[in-house]
Amino acid sequence: MYEWLKAFHIIAIIAWMAGMLYLPRLFVYHCEAEPGSKQSETFKVMERRLLKAIINPAMIATWALGLWLAWEGGLNRAGWLQAKVLLVLALSALHGFFVRWVRDFAADKNQHSAKFYRIINEIPTVLMIGIVLLAVLKPAWRGL
Ligand code: HEM
Repeated sequence: MYEWLKAFHIIAIIAWMAGMLYLPRLFVYHCEAEPGSKQSETFKVMERRLLKAIINPAMIATWALGLWLAWEGGLNRAGWLQAKVLLVLALSALHGFFVRWVRDFAADKNQHSAKFYRIINEIPTVLMIGIVLLAVLKPAWRGL
């Protein structure tokens, strides 16, 4: 059972991360499209579908399966897990900003430059590296 949960946790993570890495790329290209143009309208559809069909459900599944694993494994007091959850919270907050930016683009009210989204694009990568290192290496901290 535990190994099955872990496998589906990893499948959900791959789907979530694929979306979290691709969506800011779409924002970069969307910035270069004239508001109201056919291209801009196509980006709106792509962004909405990616968010609704992939990113949102994959985030919920990652959280649900991760918490279930922590419950099953009695790992809720492990220091690496607490640190990991902090980084996952940061990733989830970024997800919240993505939702806002998809809405801004949909209303032709984007406030940011392509350069801004290029920089934002690096954040999920950095967070993911930290989360995976914590999950796999499980470093032990004194007192935790
Ligand atoms: C708050 C949400 C999350 C919780 C509570 C959580 C919790 C857990 C737990 C308890 C395990 C099992 C550890 C083990 O028995 O080896 C696990 C495995 C794993 N998690 Fe998460 N997780 C969450 C989100 C994430 C995210 C967002 C990522 C990646 C970006 C991630 C990456 C992994 C990986 C790679 C493993 C496999 C580790 C191994 O087999 O050694 N988790 N997670």
